[in-house]
Amino acid sequence: MKVLITGGSGFIGSNLTDRLLTEGHQVVAIDNYATGRRDNLTPQSDLKIVEGTIADQALVDREFDDFAPEIVVHAACSYKDPNNWIEDARTNMLGSNIIIKASERVGVQRLIYYQTSLCYGLHPKEQPITLNHPIILEGSSYAISKTAAESYIDLSSLDYISFRLANAYGPRNLSGPLPTFYHRLTTGKPCFVVNTRRDFIFIDDLVDCTMLAIQGKGRRGPYHISSGSDYSIEELYTEVVKSLDMTPVYELEHRERSEDDVYTILIDPSKTIEDFDWQTKTALDSGVPKAINYYNKFGISETYTHLKASK
Ligand SMILES: NC(=O)c1ccc[n+]([C@@H]2O[C@H](COP(=O)([O-])OP(=O)(O)OC[C@H]3O[C@@H](n4cnc5c(N)ncnc54)[C@H](O)[C@@H]3O)[C@@H](O)[C@H]2O)c1
Repeated sequence: MKVLITGGSGFIGSNLTDRLLTEGHQVVAIDNYATGRRDNLTPQSDLKIVEGTIADQALVDREFDDFAPEIVVHAACSYKDPNNWIEDARTNMLGSNIIIKASERVGVQRLIYYQTSLCYGLHPKEQPITLNHPIILEGSSYAISKTAAESYIDLSSLDYISFRLANAYGPRNLSGPLPTFYHRLTTGKPCFVVNTRRDFIFIDDLVDCTMLAIQGKGRRGPYHISSGSDYSIEELYTEVVKSLDMTPVYELEHRERSEDDVYTILIDPSKTIEDFDWQTKTALDSGVPKAINYYNKFGISETYTHLKASK
């Protein structure tokens, strides 16, 4: 199949690209390297890497016309500066609309989107959160702009799957707590945790599910990809320390949650399990060492978060 991936040099996009190429598909990956790494993708004959922004309509239209993708996986997003609402809106809203309109124009069979579970607001009314939970636009420019894009996708004529994700982790992940713990522990800096819990999903499990959607499983609309279990951030920290087989220089500090942070995000994957005949295979204690191996080999120059700094 011909698959166009936005954000193809990012964590999720590049892992998916590798899987698609291994299985013999053709891929065009568009990325502006805002948070993606050039060394995440290896140039090869079935892969075209396009450097540029999805907010550039001429560039996007040209690539869609030339390639005529059958499937679009829209993984590009802006989030690294919580105060840069303009770039978030430009990439996540304008850029998404450019991708949607180009997909409609060339007759894409299905668009797959990755949505944040922050679309359920800062104080979800149930745990685990089901797909019936109301959408609440609040908390961060990232959440608001990503959620607006999901609504535009729903408004389009496209067949689509929007995967609302738990915290994804694994090789090439540079956002969230895991790479931050690794970076700080291996450079002798103190670490802190806030009292939050998260549902973690290993990248290979997420890619498995996306491949099923590419093959046509699932029905137009949103789905959750999650393990269905939540862990405290402190438990994750303990796994990282265990995996590094080290004694931290500093004692772990406990801090207050920032105002845009949610206590727990546990999302219910039952519809995905049923419709996709899919299940997570990787427990936290086997996924964390795989991520650590990647960091040991490739290093971390920067880590990213959509959250404002905690007090
Ligand atoms: N990782 C998670 O836990 C998680 C959770 C919920 C949702 N998501 C969503 O999954 C998708 C992929 O996230 P990720 O974790 O791989 O993050 P990532 O930062 O590794 O990937 C995003 C990619 O988009 C690229 N990008 C940013 N702005 C762009 C633009 N204007 N044009 C082209 N490319 C641009 C970045 O350079 C990067 O390579 C995002 O849409 C994100 O919102 C991720």
